[in-house]
Amino acid sequence: MTIKEKTIETKEKLLENGIENYILESETIISLALKKDRLFLITNSQKKLKENENKKINKIIEQRLKLYPLAYISGKKNFYNSEFEVNKDTLIPRPESELIIEEIIKKEEQNKNGKIFIDVGTGSGCLIISLAKILQNNKKNCFYGLDICPKALKVAKKNTKKNNLNKKINFYQSNLLEKIIKINNKNNFLNNKNLIIIANLPYLTKEEISKSPTIKFEPKKALYGGLDGLNFYRKMLKQVKKLKEDNKIKAEIHMEISPWQKNILVKDIKNILKNIPTEIKTIKDLNRKNRLIVLKV
Ligand SMILES: C[S@@+](CC[C@H](N)C(=O)[O-])C[C@H]1O[C@@H](n2cnc3c(N)ncnc32)[C@H](O)[C@@H]1O
Repeated sequence: MTIKEKTIETKEKLLENGIENYILESETIISLALKKDRLFLITNSQKKLKENENKKINKIIEQRLKLYPLAYISGKKNFYNSEFEVNKDTLIPRPESELIIEEIIKKEEQNKNGKIFIDVGTGSGCLIISLAKILQNNKKNCFYGLDICPKALKVAKKNTKKNNLNKKINFYQSNLLEKIIKINNKNNFLNNKNLIIIANLPYLTKEEISKSPTIKFEPKKALYGGLDGLNFYRKMLKQVKKLKEDNKIKAEIHMEISPWQKNILVKDIKNILKNIPTEIKTIKDLNRKNRLIVLKV
């Protein structure tokens, strides 16, 4: 069978099995198996496939038909302005999370004063790396990536190198903001500082996870947020409250949510930070659904 014939066969199989991007994916699958780019497939379309090449392609097709994510097969995912390495220890970056980056860049790109950017639950590092790539020009800015999972942090560090940001971002294993608070207890580096905290913490419920046929391949620790999905945000807000009271930080906190969680989270914010003046804004995604809560304290 030639490359062209195999590409057509792959497309048909993916289409029959309801894979949405079957055209692009079939080419990606052949490219991955042959370790060649798309141009090679076009210019060598009449080349006959060897038996082991054919087997490799079939193996990937089989994985895809079981809905195993293509990003885990290729080990790569594009997000905002860069390509990121991903594996089964990291969540696959989602396009809706780009909203956090857009919101922050809009305001911070022209800002001459330095700020401390902290990404809580960094995973592949896609959020803090995308931000640092643009905001590193201001030498007063500092960047931190925190995650409870050491394996995810390993991937985030690799992505920092891959994106030429080596040593620009400090990564720590941390339960939410715990490690930053510990460092601050020693040297008060947060005193009176302006913080931008970004958090795409696990916010799904058991029901939401069970409804999605693909999500089961991604790490549970990156997805499940407790009964109403908001446990991690509530814990983080209590840590922010303490930092506000003890260190007089000014913070802007960006939290990604499921659209139905908006009112619950807003109520929780008001409860947890009850004696502290707050400003709360909701940002909608491209589908006009509530996706981001931005809290200023
Ligand atoms: C929804 S994923 C987001 C990953 C990445 N920020 C992104 O947008 O693709 C949530 C991340 O939070 C991490 N996480 C879970 N519990 C945590 C905790 N208690 N403290 C810090 N990170 C945690 C997970 O390991 C996972 O990497």
